[in-house]
Amino acid sequence: MRELKKGYQQEFEEIFKKYSDKNQALLPCLHLAQEKWGYLTEEIISFLAQKLGLPKVEVYSVATFYSMFTLEKQGKFVIRVCVSLPCYLKGSREILEAIKKELNIEEYQTTPDKKFTIEPVSCLGLCDIAPAIMINKKLYGNLTPQKVREIIQKYKEGR
Ligand code: FES
Repeated sequence: MRELKKGYQQEFEEIFKKYSDKNQALLPCLHLAQEKWGYLTEEIISFLAQKLGLPKVEVYSVATFYSMFTLEKQGKFVIRVCVSLPCYLKGSREILEAIKKELNIEEYQTTPDKKFTIEPVSCLGLCDIAPAIMINKKLYGNLTPQKVREIIQKYKEGR
């Protein structure tokens, strides 16, 4: 728990204070942890379960229910590919395949150099520019396999 103590203990304490209902505090705490560490470690799950007085299994089930939380360390760039219907109809399957081929990994995997993770997600709210993806916080739309290959190339080269 050393890292939590010197890191973001204060921020968690503020959430605990704000919500008298421990169940309501859980989601904001998980968001904070995901944002700070990039994934939810066993240590964080135990910490929150203990602090909120919730069974660990309950914290796990919430953490695994929502796609925005991950239990494994992700790559530097997380490529979220929308696979909901409007994007699907505009070719998201081909976009996903092009990304997988370009990075030589499957869905939910991370490249060995820890640079990229591919994550299929539901609607990103960009249906008007479907098919769409998001790389970390940057949005891309009206994609074709060729366009997406060029985008990934830029990230590979650090441009
Ligand atoms: S369906 Fe893909 S962004 Fe909405």
